[in-house]
Amino acid sequence: MMRVLLLGSGGREHAIGWKLAQSGDLDLLISAPGNPGLADFGPVVTGINITNPDAVTALAIENRVDLVVVGPEAPLASGVVDSLIAARIRTCGPSREGAQLESSKAYAKHVMSRAGIPTAAAHTFTEVAAATDHLASQEGPYVVKADGLAAGKGVLVTEDLIAAQGWARLCLDGHFGTAGSTVVVEDYLVGPEVSIFVLTDGKTVLPLAPARDYKRLNDNNDGPNTGGMGTFSPLSGLPDGLVDWTVDSVVHPVIDVLREDSITYRGFIYVGLILTADGPIVLEFNSRLGDPETQVVLPRLDDDLLGLLAATAAGELHGKPLSWLPDSAVDVVVASEGYPERPVAGRPIQGIERAAARSDALVFHASTKRAAEGIVTNGGRVLNIVGTGPDLESARQAAYGAVSEIEFEGMHYRTDIAR
Ligand code: GLY
Repeated sequence: MMRVLLLGSGGREHAIGWKLAQSGDLDLLISAPGNPGLADFGPVVTGINITNPDAVTALAIENRVDLVVVGPEAPLASGVVDSLIAARIRTCGPSREGAQLESSKAYAKHVMSRAGIPTAAAHTFTEVAAATDHLASQEGPYVVKADGLAAGKGVLVTEDLIAAQGWARLCLDGHFGTAGSTVVVEDYLVGPEVSIFVLTDGKTVLPLAPARDYKRLNDNNDGPNTGGMGTFSPLSGLPDGLVDWTVDSVVHPVIDVLREDSITYRGFIYVGLILTADGPIVLEFNSRLGDPETQVVLPRLDDDLLGLLAATAAGELHGKPLSWLPDSAVDVVVASEGYPERPVAGRPIQGIERAAARSDALVFHASTKRAAEGIVTNGGRVLNIVGTGPDLESARQAAYGAVSEIEFEGMHYRTDIAR
């Protein structure tokens, strides 16, 4: 029986906690800082800075946890895993060096180059004049990225040279803090984007079911980029062998390069691909599961997540492919007024219990808080409403049926997820 500490507070972590709680081997699930949904499964420790390695390690020791599961990228990038491992606490999530696959785009490019992985050609800059001169010498569209973690907001893709140069200047002038002190200018590639997730203990690699993310705010992929407004799984129409190619030609070469550098990667790798006319090309890596993709992938997983994560942390992941339910899952993200720029917090939410009571729906909290008047909004993406069913259309109807139960002032969501 295991005592588990889960780090994070979003919809992804609620879905992870929900799945861990189904394990017969779970003794106690502690979430930090958690959310009102995670409070259903065990104690929630608020008021802790989960990017502080010492604070997290002290919490794990104090609660005698057997396993720590890290959801978001920020604690990975700040070295929380290194501190936990040094204290001999088993942890699912890469060390700070491994997490650079996400926390530094320049590092990821360097690893890809060493591993011979196809990726968009890129140049890195730390001086405004060098970046703007380089952009002026290129043809658009332009892709300009802050090197570090910028909560998904550090990337600009534009046809407009002046806007691209302005973005490089904004990054290098400190708009994203140290995350923008290096800028990566990449070739623009054309094709549909696909994300493939894998779980690895640094030797064995197990792919998860692919899911599609909807990044734009509005229907028909209009409006600004967001953290993701919806998702569905399974995906049909992927090129034959794409998942195997990703495992064999991307993930294994990456973990081999990391091993050469004495980095043992234990956790999830999110491979962002673009399917060009010349074949798949890697756009980026994330060092964690996707949000909201996790919210449709885990309801379809027909395996014990706790056993898998504990085996990953121990470096003992078996090679048996993961099992998946045949059902489909569709997630509609319900967002606050003002998201993504200035989300309004504190609005009371009605209907969560009614939506969650449906046999064909799950409600994962993303940015909510318990207040005197009940559950209120607490950020941009508020709830993930996941519908399940024997096929995509029934899962879609289930999701939107459950969304219609939810009410709060200024709520908005896309109506075309999985359409
Ligand atoms: N859904 C995109 C991400 O998790 O980064």
